[in-house]
Amino acid sequence: MSDKAALTIDGKVYEFAIFTGTEGEKAIDMTNLRAQTGCVAYDPSYANVGSCKSAITYIDGEKGILRYRGIPIEQFDTEKPNFVEVAWLLIFGKLPNKKELAAFSKKLTENAAIHEAMKYHFEGFPITAPPMAILSAMINALSCFYPQFFTIHEEDVFEDAAARLISKIRTIAAYSYRSSRGRPFIAPHPKLRYCANFLHMMFSEPYELYQVDPAVEDALNLLLILHADHEQNCSTSTVRMVGSSRANLFASCAAGVCALWGPLHGGANTAVIEMLQSIHTGNISPEDCIKMAKDKNSSFRLMGFGHRVYKSYDPRARVIKKQCDKVLATLGVNDPLLDIALKLEELALKDSFFQERGLYPNVDFYSGIILRAMGIPVEMFTVMFAIGRLPGWIAQWREQHLDASSRIMRPRQIYIGNKQRDYIPLEKRG
Ligand code: CMC
Repeated sequence: MSDKAALTIDGKVYEFAIFTGTEGEKAIDMTNLRAQTGCVAYDPSYANVGSCKSAITYIDGEKGILRYRGIPIEQFDTEKPNFVEVAWLLIFGKLPNKKELAAFSKKLTENAAIHEAMKYHFEGFPITAPPMAILSAMINALSCFYPQFFTIHEEDVFEDAAARLISKIRTIAAYSYRSSRGRPFIAPHPKLRYCANFLHMMFSEPYELYQVDPAVEDALNLLLILHADHEQNCSTSTVRMVGSSRANLFASCAAGVCALWGPLHGGANTAVIEMLQSIHTGNISPEDCIKMAKDKNSSFRLMGFGHRVYKSYDPRARVIKKQCDKVLATLGVNDPLLDIALKLEELALKDSFFQERGLYPNVDFYSGIILRAMGIPVEMFTVMFAIGRLPGWIAQWREQHLDASSRIMRPRQIYIGNKQRDYIPLEKRG
């Protein structure tokens, strides 16, 4: 293949360099497109746009490959690392050695509590407040308490900021659940590991410690790892967009939470369970559900199916599906929603509509079944996704800030409104 792409406009030929990523992915460098040709590239949902060069996560959507810093996602299931190790890997680019991991874990432990003043913020939210709204607001509020991280020039300072955020998101998430149930906050336990500590803050009661089941801890650890990064998805691109203005890490990640909330993105894990529940209660049959998803006159979609990048089975969904049986059996849970999900998948995968469009289960299709078995309430599902995705957001924010060539992100538009016209005073308007 040539290392140049040619574009002809009005008979004039313009050349653009082609460059190749580590895995052979070709890209046309369009950075000077407008300066050279006067035209902009129109691609409203960015399906063909590479917004950055990144060394963090690799996806091959056709082959169903996902790798964190080169390591296949399946190895995080078989090798069973701790979520904190994977967070470090994503952020700093290599697996931590024992000393690095111990130092980072210590920082997480030391920063697990939130400022006492922040606890009062929870009182200001209605009891029915969506946990994602609380999470975003509280992460943004961290900016008020740690202005020393507004500009980060040194690696140590960055690590401190990252540790604070990764540790505190867990506390904020658990406290949003506690306040929604009118329960007292449970302080983080310095002896517990990342996932166990979260479960403790969610489910312990004063004078009655929640006994963390190792099977639940392991399953949560794996779920968080599987969600930890996914290159330039909607929420990550949001974090980079906000970060590109040099907004601080907390503000950028708070924006990421908002983007994740939507049902086409992280909110799909909640929507899947609602869909499965509605089949379970007899409101709709699995066959009708598939029919509705195919109906062009209906806005209904098979939630947890389809992906912008994957046109084959999402490798995360494969791992989670495998875990479902195991976790449910270990916990002695018999969830009828799992059978419904399996039935829906079977119907969809043999249907030409889904086959032709490359629609397969994505990460959200089976994750809710495991979360339910752990006792995590449905309204917290997308919050769990956010806790998992946070290291990815931090890694991407760091990569962007270390890239001396990165500029403020500012797309163009194609204006289709009125041509110039005169203002009409109110008394003269019809
Ligand atoms: N059910 C029925 N039809 C679908 C679905 C679905 N879940 N997903 C895509 N399609 C159809 C769509 O109607 C279109 O058909 P046609 O070509 O005839 O117009 C075709 O497939 C392509 O869809 P698209 O909307 O152009 O694809 P996209 O890349 O813009 O959207 C998506 C990707 C994930 C938003 C979409 O597949 C979807 O809405 N899925 C359901 C929501 C969901 O599960 N989201 C979680 C995504 S994975 C985790 C994450 O990123 O958070």
